[in-house]
Amino acid sequence: MSKGSYYITTPIYYPSAKLHIGNTYTTVAADAIARFKKLTGYDTFFLTGTDEHGQKIQRLAEAKGVTPKKYVDEIVADIKDLWKIMNIDYDKFIRTTDDYHIETVQKIFKKLYDQGDIYKSEYEGLYCTPCESFWTETQLVDGKCPDCGRPVEKTKEEAYFFKMSKYADRLIEHIETHPEFIQPESRKNEMLNNFLRPGLQDLCVSRTSFDWGVPVTFDDKHVIYVWIDALSNYITALGYNQENDELYNKYWPANVHLVGKDILRFHTIYWPIMLMALDIPLPKQVFGHGWLLVDGGKMSKSKGNVVDPTVLVEHFGTDPVRYYLLHEIPFGQDGLYTSEIFIKKTNSDLANDLGNLVNRTIAMINKYFDGTIQAPTAKEEIDEDLIKIALEAPTKAEKRMDELKIPEALDEIWALVRRSNKYIDETMPWVLAKDETKKERLGTVLYNLVESLRIVSVVLSAFLPETSQKIKKQLNVDLASWDSIASFDGTKAGTKVGEGEVIFPRIDVEKKLEELAKLQEEQKPKEEKIEMEPIKPEITIEDFDKIDLRVAKVLECEPVKKAKKLLKLKVDLGGEIRQVVSGIAKYYKPEEMVGKYIVLVANLKPVKLMGELSQGMILAASDNKESLIAVNPGELPTGSKVK
Ligand code: ME8
Ligand code: MG
Repeated sequence: MSKGSYYITTPIYYPSAKLHIGNTYTTVAADAIARFKKLTGYDTFFLTGTDEHGQKIQRLAEAKGVTPKKYVDEIVADIKDLWKIMNIDYDKFIRTTDDYHIETVQKIFKKLYDQGDIYKSEYEGLYCTPCESFWTETQLVDGKCPDCGRPVEKTKEEAYFFKMSKYADRLIEHIETHPEFIQPESRKNEMLNNFLRPGLQDLCVSRTSFDWGVPVTFDDKHVIYVWIDALSNYITALGYNQENDELYNKYWPANVHLVGKDILRFHTIYWPIMLMALDIPLPKQVFGHGWLLVDGGKMSKSKGNVVDPTVLVEHFGTDPVRYYLLHEIPFGQDGLYTSEIFIKKTNSDLANDLGNLVNRTIAMINKYFDGTIQAPTAKEEIDEDLIKIALEAPTKAEKRMDELKIPEALDEIWALVRRSNKYIDETMPWVLAKDETKKERLGTVLYNLVESLRIVSVVLSAFLPETSQKIKKQLNVDLASWDSIASFDGTKAGTKVGEGEVIFPRIDVEKKLEELAKLQEEQKPKEEKIEMEPIKPEITIEDFDKIDLRVAKVLECEPVKKAKKLLKLKVDLGGEIRQVVSGIAKYYKPEEMVGKYIVLVANLKPVKLMGELSQGMILAASDNKESLIAVNPGELPTGSKVK
């Protein structure tokens, strides 16, 4: 009997480039939750998809010389392949370019306009194209987009606005009276204190500066600005406001929208307000998980850690990757990926703990009983503890999953795996096997191990479906329902086990790391494209000629006290010694600078920085993100002109 309906969603991803392990993380987590709910008797619906409109995609397509639709079609095909590889069992994949979605979004927009929640005005603001976000002056960090650090563009245009403020009080009240609405708890306070309580501005919901979007039906120079289009997917996918709204009636409101913390604000403020305006019930929960970091920073291709999920799967299989994502990242917090921890965990938890348990059990049944599982007729007290843990594991895991504590749910399964390994050490089947009178006891011990493994395989099916399947096949047990693991007697005596087969071969850590490192080197983009800052207004040759650029050599270099970003240098400028203060401390250690030849703006008016005199400026190339390289003029005599 069904315990009721359960609707879970992932964000719909931008098909602007291939997905990485971060997006994979969200989707694998949602998949595990959906599978677990299905396993434990819920009528589950799991939605994922792609968010295909917007200026960024339009520009990428233009740069590639294809239509936006053709551009996204290719990436969407890749994404679907990735989900196949990762064993993602979604019920529906929505694309915001699907006709039914477009039509429904248009109806939603019209309704909100007709009832006065959307109005026309003019927008003036600072726009970050990669993030598709508008910012106010005060929100910028160092004049750049606070989310990605890239430059913003000043934009002014006619636009439609959504009256967010009208619903703010109702939303605050909803959040306060529904503590489970925003999870984890800490993020709830962030939303309330940083965004809602200071007061909401009306949201710009249309654009005229590009046309790759859902047209506003009654004013077709506007396209619907991406968040109304994107967020609506959670209901359009179910048939909301369409001829067949059976799924909508059955599954809405969603049980949980799973999203990364980067877009929690859109899901806990804009989305609920949209729903209130449409007079639709709010989702029961929005869960904002943390970021997957690589080597302590946000993941980036140029850093060269292999984080392409398809590469990892190719080398290690699907389930080790799923296991790492599900178990090693504390759900709700940021977590680190390193290939070394990944391989070590695969070896210890999968190859050693689980793989060995399966292997030893199957091997002993084959060796001592010709592959036949015996009836458990010779019970002993020592069995009690194993049986207790085996029977508790499913309910404990279920309790953890109810709180979306995925790593902890896996811990409950591994508690049983480890207890079973210990049981082998305690009962020493190889000793029992030497004594003909202990044959029945030996059969019972092996029965208990099979039964424990059956329970493991059932619970594990939500997390590592392929591994679960392999274990069931080797044990040749077919009783795999959730109800069947409530008692410790589901395995039928007389069953013939299958061939023993190693599920997780041990990985040679050093060798594999070397292999991956080589691969990274090959895959490293030769030249990384950066989001280009707009070119400054034209100047004449006379303007340029005012700047005197010279080759100089760094003689000394030291940090500047209390200014983490600055280095103080003494440079030789053709015999003249100058002191220069430069904001390059993040990129160069003082000792790295000494002896370097650099290009100096030699006639720049001297200034004092943090109390230190700076007589010039060092030229450097920078991508505005993680890299900055001082321009290298070769070792020409100091004082040489750069023209
Ligand atoms: O934001 N670690 O799409 P998107 C963990 N289209 N998760 C990560 C991650 C990382 N390093 N990087 C990305 C969008 N994610 C919008 C969503 S929803 C109506 C519209 C995950 O392609 C995380 O879940 O930028 C994040 O929220 C999502 O990918 C963003 O994907
Ligand atoms: Mg993003």
